[in-house]
Amino acid sequence: MTDLSAAHDAAVTDRMRLAGSAYSSDRDLAARQSLYRWQTPRYDLPGMVAEQLAGVQGRVVDVGCGNGRFVQRLREVRPDLGLLGLDIASGILAGVPGPVAVADATRLPLATGGVDAALALHMLYHVGDIPQAVRELSRVVAGDGLVIASTNSDRDKAELDELWQRAAGDVLGTGRGPARISLSARFSLEKAPAFLEEEFGSVRTIELPGTITVRDPGPVIAHMASYRAWADQHDVPFDATLERARTILLDHIARRGAFEVTCLGGILVCRR
Ligand SMILES: C[S@@+](CC[C@H](N)C(=O)[O-])C[C@H]1O[C@@H](n2cnc3c(N)ncnc32)[C@H](O)[C@@H]1O
Repeated sequence: MTDLSAAHDAAVTDRMRLAGSAYSSDRDLAARQSLYRWQTPRYDLPGMVAEQLAGVQGRVVDVGCGNGRFVQRLREVRPDLGLLGLDIASGILAGVPGPVAVADATRLPLATGGVDAALALHMLYHVGDIPQAVRELSRVVAGDGLVIASTNSDRDKAELDELWQRAAGDVLGTGRGPARISLSARFSLEKAPAFLEEEFGSVRTIELPGTITVRDPGPVIAHMASYRAWADQHDVPFDATLERARTILLDHIARRGAFEVTCLGGILVCRR
């Protein structure tokens, strides 16, 4: 029997897959981000990060900046900061206003103490050697070393995992089908403090619970489809499972009026 979680871990951290497929453009990331439009309460994550940076002057690096959601907001509200966006995927950097560069979180092209704060938002779970990336974040920040990370809880969006397994089971004719891949499991909100406390004396978690309510399957199916780069990890035909999930959702919404997904994400504010 294959060790599913080891295979999933390898796929979640595979740089060829990350740079060449999952984040070769912002299409899939944007689909995942857009599901939060239907969340209550709405959290302004870039605004919350800007708030945490209120006392910071000088240079800030956003490691794994993706499509630049945070870089762009910070450029607007904190034009005084020297912002640098880094990512291993050159494709996703195309639309991000510079300066940006291709770089790996485990080998940051920055001097020791070269920045005044560092961001690692929803990205450390993609890094093969998480302790090494945490050491690099700690190395590059000056002073008391402000690092802001973010991720999701192990319990985040459990209804989507359930929906996937039900749809996959229907496609395979097996009752409950195989679990879908979890991107954040390696550095979940529950696991993150232990990794970060290796370098930082203070790690404060800000939990962001919410509920997504949809009355149309579209946003949920687009979110599930955004895992297409990992379709081969699912041991079930991906498109057929999406189609079956759409039918299950349509039926659920017709009977109950809406489909609800409980969310739990969080921000970790770290200082040495
Ligand atoms: C889920 S996206 C998050 C993007 C952005 N930080 C945000 O929160 O909107 C993860 C990003 O981390 C990048 N990434 C993954 N592994 C990385 C690594 N080892 N070094 C730098 N960036 C990496 C991916 O290419 C992707 O753009």
